Amino acid sequence: MMKLYVNPKREIGKRNPMIYGQFIEHFHRQIYGGVYDPNSPFADEDGLRTDVLEAMQKIRVPILRWPGGCFVSAYHWKDAVGKERKPLFDKAWRVEDPNTFGTDEYIKMCQKIGCEPYICTNAGSGTAEEMSDWTEYCNLENEGQYAKWRIANGFEKPHAVKYWSIGNENYLGGEIGAKTISEWGRLVEESAKMMKRVDPTIELSAAALDDVEWNINLLKRAGRFLDWISVHFYWDPLWQDNDCADYETCMSFTENISKPVDRVRGLLTAMNLEKKIKIAADEWNLRGWHHPNVDQGLLKEDYLAPRDKNDINSQYTMADAVFTACFLNMCLRNCDIVGMANFAPVVNTRGCIFTHPDGIVLRSTYHVFDLFVNYMGDVVVDSWGPEVPRMNAVNKKSGNSVVIDALDIVVTKWSDREGMAISAVNKEMSAEHTISLEDGCEGKVVELYTVNGKTADSYNDIGREEIVIKKQELGTYEKGMRITLSPHSVNVIHIL
Ligand code: AHR
Repeated sequence: MMKLYVNPKREIGKRNPMIYGQFIEHFHRQIYGGVYDPNSPFADEDGLRTDVLEAMQKIRVPILRWPGGCFVSAYHWKDAVGKERKPLFDKAWRVEDPNTFGTDEYIKMCQKIGCEPYICTNAGSGTAEEMSDWTEYCNLENEGQYAKWRIANGFEKPHAVKYWSIGNENYLGGEIGAKTISEWGRLVEESAKMMKRVDPTIELSAAALDDVEWNINLLKRAGRFLDWISVHFYWDPLWQDNDCADYETCMSFTENISKPVDRVRGLLTAMNLEKKIKIAADEWNLRGWHHPNVDQGLLKEDYLAPRDKNDINSQYTMADAVFTACFLNMCLRNCDIVGMANFAPVVNTRGCIFTHPDGIVLRSTYHVFDLFVNYMGDVVVDSWGPEVPRMNAVNKKSGNSVVIDALDIVVTKWSDREGMAISAVNKEMSAEHTISLEDGCEGKVVELYTVNGKTADSYNDIGREEIVIKKQELGTYEKGMRITLSPHSVNVIHIL
């Protein structure tokens, strides 16, 4: 049994709601056949699936990153606005993109969801000028050809896109337009300079990673222009082999879940930038996407058909839900420096929403976002437990066994009302754990909200909704009150 102590007066920080952000890319069925499906019976006047929009509204998506991802590094935004759309042969994913879904369609989608747009620019084959022209198109009232083009396309008012990222993973050799460390700093500096000349109010990020050399050069050259540093996290590497890690292996991945953030924080602090530049984990998911043979596949069945395996819903189990909750807990613990995180992606592939002709499936991870967005507070407070139970977890892919905390707990309160909300994750596959509410947990009534399934391998699918949020009234608060957390469960405890 673990005793939980809370100091509600010691505030760790106020979390930015953008840590619950999402990402959507022109990959497989995320856009075309996903959220944008004009022939669907669920489509609205703009071809957007209303069932998907409603699901995104329910988890109050705060920000949506688009159009990529690898896709963006060979994308030219001008081909996808206006009356004459130029189909693109997308060299990132080796498919034709009709470009019928472009900037204006994306902005309309964000307006319908009620979220901030967050545009990632092409720093692969693109140029500083093309990036800043995009900022002109979106943000200038009417000066210059691009604002006038937007107006001619029917959008009198600027799209007012506040968040922009320069590039996507240009450090990777496989990325179109990959850059060296010195090339990257220079390109970001010039691109940022031009974009900020168009609209000095935009907030800028740039592609980075947990690497000191890359980041030092980037920050030295362009740090003065940056508000964010973009880092990506995937733990189960499934790009080539869709061999999804089992529950225990996924739990072993939580051993160092904060390490990349700790290292980027350390560098920002060393460079005296930690107050100016925040971390945007603007692509993250337990599961890497499956897209084998993208470089050398000759036949579509080698490199295209296998992408359908991302759509197998039984792959997204309580392992995904528990891991997702541990990652969001990490963001809350680090809310002073992690200001944005974008689940990759939101629709289809490894997303939390799956679309099919007759409706949608809300996968296990969707309910974790629902729990954190709608049931957790906005201010993280100090909490501790003298004896956190530990557990073994074997990484079946590496053979390594690790000892990790079995419980992952973060305590929050609301800035606008009384009470507290405790995120309590039990990572054990078969053991339940009990926590007792000690000093600092005072309240009147206690409620328990749980996301779980019968087993660690439970999942949701068409006609199968096993995993939902379940509520239990636990009655009047008493000091030392004990709460049992079921195995492989994600819980939020309300003390009101
Ligand atoms: O596997 C999908 C890719 O993951 C995204 O397009 C890219 O940004 C990341 O490497």
